[in-house]
Amino acid sequence: MALVEIRDVRKSFGTNEVLKGVSLDIDEGEIVTIIGRSGSGKSTLLRCINALERVDAGEIRVEGKTVRTDMRDLRQFRQRVGIVFQAFNLFPHLTVEKNITLAPVLTGKASKSKARQLALDVLERVGLAEKVDAYPEQLSGGQQQRVAIARCLAMAPHLMLFDEVTSALDPELVGEVLKVMEDMAKQGMTMVLVTHEMGFARNVASKIVFMHQGKVWEQGKPAELFANPQTPELKSFISSIK
Ligand SMILES: Nc1ncnc2c1ncn2[C@@H]1O[C@H](COP(=O)(O)OP(=O)(O)OP(=O)(O)O)[C@@H](O)[C@H]1O
Ligand SMILES: [Mg+2]
Repeated sequence: MALVEIRDVRKSFGTNEVLKGVSLDIDEGEIVTIIGRSGSGKSTLLRCINALERVDAGEIRVEGKTVRTDMRDLRQFRQRVGIVFQAFNLFPHLTVEKNITLAPVLTGKASKSKARQLALDVLERVGLAEKVDAYPEQLSGGQQQRVAIARCLAMAPHLMLFDEVTSALDPELVGEVLKVMEDMAKQGMTMVLVTHEMGFARNVASKIVFMHQGKVWEQGKPAELFANPQTPELKSFISSIK
């Protein structure tokens, strides 16, 4: 059984059908990179996997359980499936430690006495333990995004979703965030990322999914997919990003 099973998922906003029957399997430990033109439905698909959007038809199962926006254990589900966005969404008035430990303490996942150690542990994984007492505004964009990733890690998720997490960063800060994600991949985290970083996609992804007009148009291993695109749409996408 795949960790994530997506079956013929459809999603419309008003009359705009954005996902037109998407099917995809994601195995445990896989690093899946979703690529495709603006508007092809990449973010919408991620948001459906995390139950931030309701699907109109078809089904998404994570760890065998059907994902629904009205599922009874939505809160626990969101702990198992972390999502990081382009905007870091850190609370500006809270320290890095408090940003990270707010949710684990509220949900009882960590006691107050263990919270600081938890923050230090996950900050260690993103190389920022020395910033535990800093406020977000005292950090660079790359550091803030690494804190946002650490905040997700504090919930010990089984799956992490990343939606263009490096797109808002100055070019010189992109590498440090990609490095953190690469380390997580090496440690076996199952990850689905939407990214324009084709170097990362080539080198780290176990599978690349090309979305086009609301469908999975092509998918495959990076080397094969980039070397041998089967459709004119993927060919033209690849040449547009070179
Ligand atoms: N909440 C919403 N309400 C209405 N329309 C939406 C909403 N979210 C997305 N859409 C529309 O759905 C389509 C797909 O959007 P989506 O954000 O999934 O694309 P994307 O592939 O992530 O694009 P990009 O590369 O620009 O981020 C777009 O036409 C968009 O305008
Ligand atoms: Mg998007």
